[in-house]
Amino acid sequence: MITIGGGSSMDTGKGIGIIINNPEFYDVRSLEGLSPTKNRTVFTIAVPTTGGTGAESTINYVVTDVEKRRKFVCVDPNDIPDIAIVDPDMMASMPKGLTASTGMDALTHAIEGYTTKAAWELADVLNLEAIQLIAKNLRKAVENDPDGREGMALAQYVTAMAYSNVGLGIAHSMAHTLGAVYDTPHGVACAMMLPIVMEFNQEYTGEKFKAIAEAFGVDTTGMSQAEYRKAAIDAVRQLSVDVGIPTKLEKLKEEDLPFLCESAAADACAPGNPRPATIEQFEEMFRKLM
Ligand SMILES: NC(=O)c1ccc[n+]([C@@H]2O[C@H](COP(=O)([O-])OP(=O)(O)OC[C@H]3O[C@@H](n4cnc5c(N)ncnc54)[C@H](O)[C@@H]3O)[C@@H](O)[C@H]2O)c1
Ligand SMILES: [Fe+2]
Repeated sequence: MITIGGGSSMDTGKGIGIIINNPEFYDVRSLEGLSPTKNRTVFTIAVPTTGGTGAESTINYVVTDVEKRRKFVCVDPNDIPDIAIVDPDMMASMPKGLTASTGMDALTHAIEGYTTKAAWELADVLNLEAIQLIAKNLRKAVENDPDGREGMALAQYVTAMAYSNVGLGIAHSMAHTLGAVYDTPHGVACAMMLPIVMEFNQEYTGEKFKAIAEAFGVDTTGMSQAEYRKAAIDAVRQLSVDVGIPTKLEKLKEEDLPFLCESAAADACAPGNPRPATIEQFEEMFRKLM
């Protein structure tokens, strides 16, 4: 099987390949969470055409359950493609908005992967490198600069190799539910949630926000912990604004909040978040988009 496209195409291929070789899971829903499959997927070559998800090398794929208005994550080492062809030329046709949103998805992977509960030294090295690459290259990639494109192709792949092993956090949990309910593009939803979740998590991240601020080129000499944490959040927010990501989600409706919060709390990425979030805290964070 050859899967060419963004995360949606590659994830569709991953699900198809798993079901071909594990037909007892044909209902798809029984694959949610840690999928108990026995057999590897069919031989797969994955070719990403967006600079974002890293689905060409990750352990998971995401499925939209249209009936239940939710997206669920399937985690399964049997789904990892055999070969990934990561070529920035395949991404050169992306318009600005798609480059920006998929790049911010990659940044969300790197920052959530760097601060998730299971983070450790080896994954940290990769995630931090990816943050630095994105800080340096996303604005250029949005202008279709070839070096920027190459930096982003690399960054999204480098963080995927790391976050796939350590997990993510609630920016993804909340992005998944926004994607399912409002069809908000995944990268846009991640980008909108990321600085809000960083603010919520900051007290639980030790000195990691110092390294994030530095990866964005901030000189943290003499800064207090509160100052470098704010500098990291400000740098992420600034990048998001510079590449044209909105900060408000007009579709978000008051009456949807209970469903959105329950759905985010039940998402497979939530347990990895460094700070546990209550339903009320999810609601507070969603409200910041209104
Ligand atoms: N498996 C994983 O590890 C993983 C990780 C993160 C996100 N995801 C999932 O991936 C999906 C999002 O994937 P995505 O952000 O790559 O977007 P996408 O695959 O949904 O593509 C978005 C749009 O861009 C178009 N497109 C793709 N490449 C293009 C190109 N080179 N030029 C012009 N148009 C192009 C597509 O046709 C589509 O209309 C979500 O469902 C998300 O939950 C999966
Ligand atoms: Fe993502």
